Amino acid sequence: MTSQALGVSSKTFDTRTGISAKDREKIAGALGIVLADSYMLFIKTQGVHWNVTGPAFISVHELTEAQYENLYAAIDVIAERIRALGQKAPASYTRYGTLSSIDDSEDPETAGDMLKMLIAGHETAVVHMRAAIEWCEEKKDFVTADLLIGRMSWHEQAIWMLTALSDE
Ligand SMILES: [Fe+2]
Repeated sequence: MTSQALGVSSKTFDTRTGISAKDREKIAGALGIVLADSYMLFIKTQGVHWNVTGPAFISVHELTEAQYENLYAAIDVIAERIRALGQKAPASYTRYGTLSSIDDSEDPETAGDMLKMLIAGHETAVVHMRAAIEWCEEKKDFVTADLLIGRMSWHEQAIWMLTALSDE
């Protein structure tokens, strides 16, 4: 019985909650991009937290710590929403690199350039979320839309804080 249970594949499953299988797959695809963007931003934000230097060190170090912790928690919530839609959540750096258009090869030297890099990443994430929310509302997936509106609000606040800090 146990070995039989362990052999069950649970990659995708059907759920009858008023959104068609095709639409759930498409919504999960859009969420996969949001997940990949969030992972990329998580890595880059932690990189800035570690490597920033200069007079703004403590401000940037502390702000980026709060931001990467938020991103880390959000990644789990987004991936679990993909699962609740009956789809498999992407879980590899290679997939994230393909899904996200946030470039993780940049290696800025100054605090100002690091902040600009993070701001651009948040902006890309927000653009993808805005498109995904429109799609979710059209398909009446208000739960995913609500999740994404909350995330978009946080990213826009992050852009404000990073911009305010870069004006020092
Ligand atoms: Fe730290």
